[in-house]
This record gives sequence, C-alpha cells and structure tokens, in this order.
Amino acid sequence: MVFIDTHSHVLPFIDDGAEDWDMAMAMLKQAQDDGVHQVVCTPHIQSAIDFDREDEIIGVFNELQDRAKSNGIRILLHLGAEIYIQPDLQLDKKIATLAQNGRYFLIEFPMNLIPDFVSQRFFDLVMDDKIPIVAHPERNARIITDIGKAYEFVQRGALLQANAGSITGQFGETVQKTVFRLLDAKLIHLVGSDAHNNSGRPLMLRKAYDIILRKYGQEAAYKLFYSHPKLILSAQNVSVEEPGPFVNEKSKKISDRFKHLWEKIIT
Ligand SMILES: [Fe+2]
Repeated sequence: MVFIDTHSHVLPFIDDGAEDWDMAMAMLKQAQDDGVHQVVCTPHIQSAIDFDREDEIIGVFNELQDRAKSNGIRILLHLGAEIYIQPDLQLDKKIATLAQNGRYFLIEFPMNLIPDFVSQRFFDLVMDDKIPIVAHPERNARIITDIGKAYEFVQRGALLQANAGSITGQFGETVQKTVFRLLDAKLIHLVGSDAHNNSGRPLMLRKAYDIILRKYGQEAAYKLFYSHPKLILSAQNVSVEEPGPFVNEKSKKISDRFKHLWEKIIT
C-alpha cells in the first residue's frame, strides 16, 4: 500500500514546519521509507498578507523539488497551502488550492471555535465549485463537544481531513476518541500527516493506516489514504458516503435532525 499526503509543512523557512534543508530532506526520506508516494506542501497562510510571500514560497518549493531529486527522493511533490479561516480566502492565488488545481483547498479553524460566518461561506464556495477541506476537525474544541458541527460542514459539501497523529493517539485521548467518533459516522474523507518535523510530527502515515485497516477494513483505508487524496489532487469528484448516525455529549436529537436534512439533500 502506498500513500498520498495532502497536508504537510515540509517547506523550510516559511512557517513552523521544517527548520532547514537538512530537516526537509530528512522528512521526505522518512516519508519515502514509510510508503508515501506523493506529498502536498501546505505552508500556513495565516492572513491575506502571507499571500504576498507567494513568489518566495514557489521559489522554495522549486528548490525542494531540485534537492529532493538530487538526494534520490522519488516522491512526487505538489504545492498548496493551509489557509486559516478568514472571510476573504483569496482562492484565486496560485498556491491557494491543493496541487494548484483551482478546486480543492485546505482550511484551518482556530483550535477552540468556529467563526459564525463559516457555514454560509462554505455553502457559497461549494456552489461556486470550490471545495473546502477542513484540516483536523478532531482537534477543534467545538467539534469535540458537538459532532453535529462536522456533520453540518459535510452536508454543505465540505470534506474533512483527519491527522494521522490523532488516530495514533499523539494528540491525547480526547482527540483520539473524537477522530474515531467522526470515522464511525463516516465524517472523515482523508488522512494527512500534518508533518512539521522529522521527530515528534513526522511525515509518516503507515502507523495510522494500519490502525484504520484493522478497525474499518481495506476499502475504507484505501479511500482515506490513497484514492480520495488522488481524486482531490486531480480536481475530480469525491463521492462521499452518507454519514452514519452519531452520538455526542450534547444530544442524540442533533443526529436525527441532520439525518433528516441529509436525506432531503440527496433525494
Ligand atoms: Fe497543518
């Protein structure tokens, strides 16, 4: 089994990811040994000002490709961004969408809330065929207490990306329980590394893949770690399964209400 990673901070000197070229190469070497065949470099874009660094980011990405090649790394590299949620997302920028495909973009929320404007904004974007991929929803405090919020995003056409480290328990028991609740309800569509370095947060997916394989089977694991990322990178449609029932600390009633809405949408 080989993997495609759609979320990584392997570009050096840009954000809190790789510190230098040596670390970037070490991360890619680990990824290659782990079975990762394609990687999207997704530096943090915290505000509109960060897009002013677009040419610099493209320059570093081009150098990463050259250095990877001369170091014998055969991973296919793509460029994109992880955009912090803001009203004006500037999706026309060259690096805004994954693999610069003009369609799918990776979006990050604050850890403890989801801004009120997000639901309507997602709906408008999807209508315009711009598909949000929510990065690590299992780490968001609002979703941890109310899975219905994740359900709502999926219902509006967004995809959800879990971190491999959440599945392996790296971010603690609460996040791990949340990611499995989301997975149980078919609310996760792809898994990424969100790698930041070559030690504590490496560019590796196999450990999480093995857990998913054992718990959910081959077909689900294949979709989460390979086929959905592949469709996304080539800007094709991902056919999302109908979310299953879910339970959270709030109320089972939320699940029933969204189930009803979902049925209205798919019929
Ligand atoms: Fe990230």
